[in-house]
Amino acid sequence: MSKTTNYDVKDMKLAGEGKRRILWADGDMPVLAMIRERFAKEKPLQGRRMSACLHVTAETANLARTLKAGGADLLLCASNPLSTQDDVAASLVKDFGIKVYAVRAENRKTYYDHIASACKHRPTVTMDDGADLVNALHTDMSRYADDIVASMEETTTGVIRLRAMEKNGILKFPVIAVNDADTKHLFDNRYGTGQSSLDGVIRATDFLLAGKKVVVVGYGWCGRGVSARAKGAGANVIICEVDPVRALEAVMDGFSVMPIAAAAAVGDLFITVTGDINVIDTPHFRKMKDGAIVCNSGHFNVELNLVGLKKAAKKINRGVRNLVDEYVMPGNRRIYILAEGRLVNLACAEGHPASVMDMSFATQALASEYAIKQAGKLSVAVHPVPARIDSWVAKLKLKTMDVKIDSLTAEQKKYLASSDMGT
Ligand code: ADE
Repeated sequence: MSKTTNYDVKDMKLAGEGKRRILWADGDMPVLAMIRERFAKEKPLQGRRMSACLHVTAETANLARTLKAGGADLLLCASNPLSTQDDVAASLVKDFGIKVYAVRAENRKTYYDHIASACKHRPTVTMDDGADLVNALHTDMSRYADDIVASMEETTTGVIRLRAMEKNGILKFPVIAVNDADTKHLFDNRYGTGQSSLDGVIRATDFLLAGKKVVVVGYGWCGRGVSARAKGAGANVIICEVDPVRALEAVMDGFSVMPIAAAAAVGDLFITVTGDINVIDTPHFRKMKDGAIVCNSGHFNVELNLVGLKKAAKKINRGVRNLVDEYVMPGNRRIYILAEGRLVNLACAEGHPASVMDMSFATQALASEYAIKQAGKLSVAVHPVPARIDSWVAKLKLKTMDVKIDSLTAEQKKYLASSDMGT
């Protein structure tokens, strides 16, 4: 492991492969590349110390390059111990001059030491995927929070956490909920999580989806995406949901809907995407069939009660395949847990494809520029991304896909603006 005051990555010799993968991803991130070009000329982030706690992937590397091109002094640390791509981390340090603190499979102490390094960088702007950095800046590391003008949040779970902080009156600085932008959650959460979660399951297990019973717990945007992709691959999909409106939507989308207590006995594969705790609990594990595969694609690994499963199991065989643990239950039924319950798409595959991260990270980059322009003017609260950023990113993405759309005629605009035209 290479260690200086400036970075902590696994092995700098991996940089060559990391650079190839970063540049390959860049080919599918044209909107972000356009922003990078403009940032390089206009330097809207000049002189800003930024700390970003994100999944250290090839796609994130291209966001990091963009922020640096805009003039930011950037430090990047991991937002999950199992999502770091070590080759990318090495290349970011060697080829792109970014301070990176991330090592795949780092233990809990190292994970939090790396977040502490991000705080000690004394950022004025932060970026999070899950709010672990903001949380540190409100607890142990609060002495580094005074200069922060704003923070960007990438994911649903993080936004929920930050809204709770706002509601409890403890939030210290403005936050922009990037996750809630349409160009983020409608695409990244749905199509990104939909594809990459199944990619993770397949890479880890060689699972055939056709004809299998796939239980998706949670029917938010991620759950909708996972279910649609599993159905498309021939699986019989069962949805478990607590929200009656979402459950009804799942029924009308053509899925079976039932409580997890019933689904537990019939599923071949279980994927949780709820953002909540113990949604698959010990009694559910006890009911599962021999050979059931269980994974999580929500942000934290708390969605599966692995402590309860461990107690209920007779024996655990770790690593029966890479990132697959076998829990042998009474009656010799075997349950397979992927990636210790951590994000299956990032731990067992490469996360969302670059083409969809293009939109998420274009929105991130523009939200940072906006937050810096608004420094001192935003209230201490969770704010939406301005609608014009969403619209600009969508327009540009369509352009790069060579898709043309209509625009309103003067007559149509007038009609929409009037209240007196009826039958
Ligand atoms: N979250 C999900 N997929 C991702 C990716 N490829 N890069 C960064 N964050 C992600």
